[in-house]
Parts: sequence; structure tokens; C-alpha cells
Amino acid sequence: MADQTYDYDVLVIGSGPGGYVAAIRAAQLGLKTACAESRETLGGTCLNVGCIPSKAMLHASELYEEAHEGALEKFGVKLSGAKLDLDQMLSEKEKAVGELTGGIEFLFKKNKVEWLKGHASFEDAHSVKIGKKTVTAKDVVIATGSSVTPLPGVEIDNDKHQIVDSTGALALPKVPKKMVVIGGGVIGLELGSVWRRLGAEVIVVEFLDQILPGMDGDVRREAAKLFKKQGFDIRTGTKVTSAKTLKAKVKLTVEPAKGGDEESIEADCVLVSIGRKPNTDGLGLDAIGLETNDRGQIEIDHEFRTKVDGVWAIGDVVPGLMLAHKAEDEGIAVSENIAGQTGIVNHDVIPSVVYTMPEIASVGLTTEEAKAKGHEVKAGKFPMMANSRAKTNRDTDGFVKVIADAETDRVLGVHIIASLAGTMIAQAAQAMEFGATSEDIAYTCHAHPTHSEAIKEAAMAVTGKPIHI
Ligand code: FAD
Ligand code: NAI
Repeated sequence: MADQTYDYDVLVIGSGPGGYVAAIRAAQLGLKTACAESRETLGGTCLNVGCIPSKAMLHASELYEEAHEGALEKFGVKLSGAKLDLDQMLSEKEKAVGELTGGIEFLFKKNKVEWLKGHASFEDAHSVKIGKKTVTAKDVVIATGSSVTPLPGVEIDNDKHQIVDSTGALALPKVPKKMVVIGGGVIGLELGSVWRRLGAEVIVVEFLDQILPGMDGDVRREAAKLFKKQGFDIRTGTKVTSAKTLKAKVKLTVEPAKGGDEESIEADCVLVSIGRKPNTDGLGLDAIGLETNDRGQIEIDHEFRTKVDGVWAIGDVVPGLMLAHKAEDEGIAVSENIAGQTGIVNHDVIPSVVYTMPEIASVGLTTEEAKAKGHEVKAGKFPMMANSRAKTNRDTDGFVKVIADAETDRVLGVHIIASLAGTMIAQAAQAMEFGATSEDIAYTCHAHPTHSEAIKEAAMAVTGKPIHI
């Protein structure tokens, strides 16, 4: 039963994986709930222009590359004349997006979550203007997500398909001959992979000395080696200083990050993927006296409360990893806290996956982080080359690395490069959630033949006793 003083018990602003999950959970807990969304469809960045369309394009482009490059011939599958129908590929992606965003609409109806269409802005802590209407709620959850970080001097114009962000790169009407990706992070490598597989020459310009910041050092080195082998031209320690759009090309000026001679690169398309920033513009935070931190994020306590009573925040707009499943778990926890239960997210065990081929997945601390935190570290590494299933499938790139505390043997982190790393990491996350030691993983029976046996062997390698190397 709603508190009669307010229109709703809970108003969630934003319907991404954080917001829609929070709204559904709040409704499941008997709270009268509405969700404001300014986009035409529900599901936020993730379903509309993020996780889902990018995975659709990664899957389709992988099929194309396998069929087109004769990769299947060694398995006795002969194909000839495989052609790219990019319009069809894009429309199948849109179909998947439509089905999933429509699915959230269905779930809202099923759970009696009211969808309030329009941009939301605070008038006070319990009153929010959505479009022309003001509604009131006892508790308000900010789940407004994030958008692309702009690069000064490199103006994004997705409609022209020349200088694009991830949204533009998910809808290019033709395969660019040459594409420059600015930023060797997750988006750059995933979407760079899509267009490389479809025929583009891809140059990655990365400011730092290595790609994939935040990942374990061994993983970063191995990933760079594998991507170069695939044909990526990776230029680390390089910065873009300007971009000029010519008629059909973009002319980029780049120079060594630490200073040096300028060079120019001409490309048909430039993808700007240098990170994302929290969405708080036009949200009326001033009206409730809520300030953002120096990274533009809304600070929260461990229960997801902001400094303003009755106002909570989750997902990409708060500090932490910008990942859909992290936002979802926070969505469940915040609503449980609002309902008076105990909602908890263990932020030390959030897996992350880069959906390239091979996939790159990690959970917990990197070797560098573990040492910096004062742990004496034992690590076990097992190459996919020695895993029987990977050998059989001819997908032997990569390794599994298990990091444990030398004294207690407790697993501190697991890092995987393997074709199925994204699926394999789930068991590592669960083991860590249960406080496993490397010995626990090593003595857990793993089905044979599976890629996951490499996790068991890496855990055995922590104490120096793997069987197959
Ligand atoms: P969002 O999903 O950004 O949703 C916020 C919503 O709030 C938006 O729909 C926005 O329109 C709405 N909104 C904002 N302000 C207002 C307002 N004032 N009023 C009304 N509505 C408002 N993560 C993964 O875990 N796995 C992946 O594979 C993955 N792939 C990605 C690929 C790409 C290309 C991108 C860009 C991101 C990807 N991510 C991935 C990241 C993931 O999309 C985000 O971490 C996730 O969407 C964050 O969820 P959120 O609910 O915090 O915000
Ligand atoms: P990112 O933070 O992963 O990578 C950005 C890269 O750009 C970094 O390597 C950084 O050093 C580099 N960079 C920054 N400024 C630069 C400059 N001026 N010139 C050259 N390089 C520069 O950010 P990205 O790829 O934009 O992704 C944003 C977020 O979206 C990530 O935080 C990620 O969590 C999320 N995401 C997650 C995915 C997944 O889970 N599979 C897929 C795509 C995005």
C-alpha cells in the first residue's frame, strides 16, 4: 500500500539494467513503483546501444569471419561464396534489441511498474518533474547511467558515419576500408573486432603504454600479442591531437604521448572510445543540494544512500565498475534496502568480460593490485594449449591465471583469456564469493573435456602440481 503522502513509494530515474531491475524488485516487494525514462524504449544503454547490440554484431561478424576466411575447412566444412549482407546483419541486431527492450516493457506490466515517459528533473528530494508533470515519491533512485566521454578536438557526428562513438559504430551502413579506434579499452577492442572481421583495416591508438587498463599485466601483454596476430595495428603510448573531416576521409594528427614528432593518419572512420562519464546533466541535483565528486559521480554509502535523505543512486552514475551486471545487482540491493531488508553487493567479486575472440575475463584482484594491498601472492597459470577440449576445438589461444594469498591460500583473483572465458569466469566468481582457497578449486571435480578444466589445473599450479603441463 502506497504511503498516501506521495504518488509512489519508489520512483526510479532511468530504465537501464540498474533502474529497471530496481523498479521490478521494488514492485515485487509490494512498493508502488514508477520508472522514468527519457529514451523511446526501456533497457538503457545496455539493451539499446551497449551490451546487446554489440554482442549481436560480435556474434554475426564472427560467423562471417569463420565462413569467409575458410576457417572451417580444416574441420572438413567447405564453403564457397560466403558474402556479407550488412543490412541484414544490422537488421537482425535491431530485431534482438527490439525483442529485449520489449521484454522489459512486458516485465513492467507484469510487475505493475508504471513507465513515466520523459526526462526527469528534481524539484525537491521527493518531487520530480517528468516532461510537464510533477510526481512525488517517498524514495527516489537515481539510475541515470553514463554516456561517452568526448575528446576535445575530435567532434563526434554519428549521422555522418565518419567520427563516431560506440552508438555510431554499431550502425555503420558500410564497412570502412580503414578505421582508427581512439582508446584501446573494452569498446575499442570489441567494436574494432567487429569491423576488422568484416574487412576493415583497424588501427588502435592508445594513450597508455598498454591496452586494457585495469587488467592483470600478464593478460594485457598476451591480449596485445593476440590482437596484433589478428591484424590489429596497435599504437600504444600515442595520443590524438586533432581530427579534421575531409570529404570522404578523416585526417587525424597523432603524436607520442610523452612528446615527439607529429604524424597524420587518414581513415574512413574514427571511433572515439576513451571511456564513459556519469549522466547528471539536467537532473536538477542543485535543487536537492547534491553535489557530484570530481569524476562527476554521485557518492553513496554501502547501502546506496546519497547524502540526501530519501535519494539513492546505483549503476554507472556511482563510483565503481561500469558494468550491466553490477548495476543489476545494485538495483536489487537498493530496493531491498528501501523495503527495510538488507541488500548487499560484494563489490570485490564483480566479474568483467571483454567479448573479443578469445574472450578476456577477470574477477577479483590483479597481481599488481594484490601486491599493492600487501598480499604475498602465489599464482598458478595454465595455458589453453594444454587443455584437451581447446586443443580438440583448435582454439588454444590464452591461459588461466589463479592468484591466491601465499599464507592463507584464499583465491584473490582469477584472470582468463580463452574462447569461453566469459562463461568460465562464473565458477571463479562463485568460488571467490564462497571464500574458496586454490586447493578448494583444485580438488573440485570438473567435467571432461571442458575448457573449465583449465581453471582446475591453474588452481593446482598455485601449489605447483598441475597434471597436464
Ligand atoms: P544505463 O544503461 O546507461 O541507463 C540509464 C538510462 O537512464 C538511460 O536509458 C537514459 O536514457 C536514462 N536517463 C538518463 N538521465 C535521465 C533523466 N534525467 N530522466 C529520464 N531518464 C534518464 N556492460 C556489461 O556488463 N557487459 C557488456 O557486454 C557491455 N557492453 C557494452 C557495450 C557498449 C557499446 C557500451 C556503451 C556499454 C556496454 N556495457 C556493458 C556497459 C553497460 O551498458 C552499462 O554498465 C550499463 O548499461 C549501466 O546501467 P545503468 O542502469 O547504470 O545505466
Ligand atoms: P575504457 O575505459 O575501457 O577504455 C578507454 C581507453 O581509452 C583506455 O585504454 C584509456 O587509456 C584510453 N584513452 C583515454 N584517453 C585517451 C586519449 N585521449 N587517446 C587515446 N587513448 C585514450 O572505456 P571504453 O572502452 O570507452 O568503455 C567504457 C565503459 O563501458 C567501460 O568502463 C566498460 O566497463 C563498459 N563496457 C563494458 C563492456 C563489457 O563489459 N564487455 C563492453 C563495452 C563497454
